[in-house]
Amino acid sequence: MSFSNTKLDIDFVRSQFPAFKDPICKNWSFFENAGGSYVPQEVISKLNEFMISTKVQPYAEYAMSKKAGDEMDKATELFAKIINAKNNEILIGDSTSANLYVLSNALKSIISQGDEVIVTNQDHEANISPWRRLKENGAIIKEWKINKISGELDIEDFERLISKKTKIVAVTHCSNIVGSVNNLKKISSISKKYNAILIGDGVSYAPHGFPDVKELGVDFYSFSLYKTYGPHLGLLYCNENITKSLPNQNHEFLEGDYPYTLNPGGSNHEELASLSGIYDYLMNLYDHHFNDEKISLREKIGKINNLISLHEKDLANPILEFITQRNDLRLIGKNKIIDKDRAPTISFISKNKSSKEVSKILVSNNIATRNDNFYAWRCLKALGIDDEDGVVRISIVHYNSMDEVNKLIKALKKI
Ligand SMILES: Cc1ncc(COP(=O)(O)O)c(C=O)c1O
Repeated sequence: MSFSNTKLDIDFVRSQFPAFKDPICKNWSFFENAGGSYVPQEVISKLNEFMISTKVQPYAEYAMSKKAGDEMDKATELFAKIINAKNNEILIGDSTSANLYVLSNALKSIISQGDEVIVTNQDHEANISPWRRLKENGAIIKEWKINKISGELDIEDFERLISKKTKIVAVTHCSNIVGSVNNLKKISSISKKYNAILIGDGVSYAPHGFPDVKELGVDFYSFSLYKTYGPHLGLLYCNENITKSLPNQNHEFLEGDYPYTLNPGGSNHEELASLSGIYDYLMNLYDHHFNDEKISLREKIGKINNLISLHEKDLANPILEFITQRNDLRLIGKNKIIDKDRAPTISFISKNKSSKEVSKILVSNNIATRNDNFYAWRCLKALGIDDEDGVVRISIVHYNSMDEVNKLIKALKKI
């Protein structure tokens, strides 16, 4: 199928996700995608196939074992291509939190007394705590603070903070509360001038389109595969020029076998193998909407990303507008998505009800959402929001429909 003026075929998209036919899920409008997304049939099938015919120790010569190893390698290779990395720059671990902790442990080796580390107070704690702990190794921690009203990070503040002593900069690509997309490309070019290592947290960005890590210029970039339509794993992109100089944290005989040197132990085999289902799903999406076969994979990903972004923008903007118009609600972050400067991750609080109460009203109307600080408690504190009660967060991905948005707005009117 090809479109002249291509719009996302939402019926096609939803037909790829068995959850929408499931007796429990089908009664709900699901708006908690930033917590974890549904998975397409391709991922489920890959997981199932692996568990049935290749659930053995991989990389031996017998057929089942050989196939198991091949499937695992294939998934790593595909993800390397998707984000424009090399195969040996992809580390698949249990989660983003775990990946960043093992990375910070390895990066202790570059820290000397008085070196500086920049963290933000906009990030999820997964990209703050591991770096703040480097003070135990003599690092001075500098905080790049958000604007207390807008919740945004100002690049000029970063330029004032960074110095020749800065060794590490850790910043989110997109905030899981404010929704703003930070200009990692610019942050990277500034960091490079000072020879600082840049660690980008892409957890809230990647579900809306896999980035090109080389174009971003990041040294390390993490995202959670369970939020990008896969199983509960985390991917860490690791620039090989840096990883190869870091200490081996794995078995002694694996010395030099980076990036496996970073993470003690291996990945979950069946879940790793199932990741190629995400690639298959993306290609199904591409083939359904476009008919140019000759372009590169990254170009295809770019077209899919645009398709998804336009749909997400169409869904998110009416919600942003509704919340903005209500005097009793406080929207966090920009009130409109313009040109991918904001993710469709929408947080708000009520001026006269707790976030827990608001969330209960939404849930009683079959809107799947929740209130929390979503582990970005420093961000909430800076915004003057009770970090126990937190915000109500509506998080959209491309499989959400306008019908669900209408149901959500109807439910929001009951607050
Ligand atoms: C922006 C952001 N970064 C990091 C994380 C941590 O990811 P994980 O659960 O894979 O450790 C999350 C989880 O919600 C997140 O939203």
